[in-house]
Amino acid sequence: MISATHTFPRGFKWGSATAAHQVEGHAQNSDWAQWETLPGKIKENGSAAVACDWWGGRWREDFDRAAADGQTTHRLSVDWSRIEPRPAVWDDEALDHYRQMVSGLRERGIEPMVTLHHFTNPLWLVEKGGWENPAVVSHFERFARKVVSVLGDHVDWWCTINEMNVYAYNSYAEGIWPPGKKDIRLCFTAIRHMLMAHAAAYRAIHELQPHARVGVAPNILLFDPARPDFALDARVASFQARSFYEAIPQALHTGKLLFPVGGWRERLPGVAGTMDFFGVNYYGRRLTAFDLNHPGTLFGRTFHSAEAEVDNMGLNELYPEGLFRVIKWAAGFGKPIAITENGWGDNDEGRRTRAMLGHVRQLWRAVNFNLPVQAYFYWSLVDNFEWERGWTQRFGLYELDLETQARTPRAAAKLYAEICKSNTLTAEMAARYAPEVVPAMFPG
Ligand code: BGC
Repeated sequence: MISATHTFPRGFKWGSATAAHQVEGHAQNSDWAQWETLPGKIKENGSAAVACDWWGGRWREDFDRAAADGQTTHRLSVDWSRIEPRPAVWDDEALDHYRQMVSGLRERGIEPMVTLHHFTNPLWLVEKGGWENPAVVSHFERFARKVVSVLGDHVDWWCTINEMNVYAYNSYAEGIWPPGKKDIRLCFTAIRHMLMAHAAAYRAIHELQPHARVGVAPNILLFDPARPDFALDARVASFQARSFYEAIPQALHTGKLLFPVGGWRERLPGVAGTMDFFGVNYYGRRLTAFDLNHPGTLFGRTFHSAEAEVDNMGLNELYPEGLFRVIKWAAGFGKPIAITENGWGDNDEGRRTRAMLGHVRQLWRAVNFNLPVQAYFYWSLVDNFEWERGWTQRFGLYELDLETQARTPRAAAKLYAEICKSNTLTAEMAARYAPEVVPAMFPG
């Protein structure tokens, strides 16, 4: 019996992604470290506290596991509040800590991608108005220069800002993240400053490191019309997509920022042409129905269809085809693509492995359509602090026991190691890890 084999191109990069605050623990100087102490902000009163204890040195054992599992790249972030605890005052110990981490990755044959901003801010920046104040642009540029001058021997792949859309929305529109504001105009102001800060950092990084590859990683949440034949659903869904994520790569491509909502149109000087690669964070999709009762979401009510398979928290729909669609759309910007995050947070291990099989299959489809996707970072290597959801949603390949810090591989870790090591996905793997998907995935 022939077993189908989906082969990836030689040199395709397989890895995982993490973010400083979610794994390091022992943070004191950032807005998130403070926010977690406020009652009611985090589910079940969780806090990053010790997290995965990377600041205590446990990154070593996690990187050992990643290497043993055949991963060849890892996306991690640095915490601005550690590196620059006061304006223009640099903490050499913190910088050295990160230097050890990125050289530790290289020693294990793992190429680092470093994200400069992944949701957390130094308290001094917050006191100056954070991302509402245009001064953040030059502060961020100064920070980027410092990090690149210290880590640049080991790193030339940089993601400036993670998910500026999710950050701005949760922090300034929904108000569920610090600074907890609810004003859609501030949400756009923050994105505007993030785009400008990205562009300033882009130029600074290239000045120091001409060969650097610099990009961003917006969250691409698909919005599909709930009733495809009803024009208003399609219109509102497209409005949501343009406002939530399309505006970001468009601005980096053309220099023009267009938010359909509020009719925001602006030329941002120096922003055009500041994307060397397109980082895509993809977790699923929502359906949108036109509904006058929902002005806050542009008159679109978003939900999951009754047939959708969702995680146990009801947050994300398992919709692997969406990954293919998103890659195809992202390719329109003419840059190499990295899937900077994709993963599945659930307490159902069957669904976690099914999600991995489905997404990797769509990734292979994209590669075979010659779409320029070069790397895939699974979110995440080990269970970590999941922001307002605390420890209630687990994304790790490895399960973390918070009491003992013990790591246990999940079935998905074993499957992922087989994929990474062989650079393939096979029908035989699917049959071993999730036999129920075989008839649909590999008919015949
Ligand atoms: C973020 C991560 C987060 C993940 C899973 C992404 O939006 O970049 O920090 O843990 O989704 O929810």
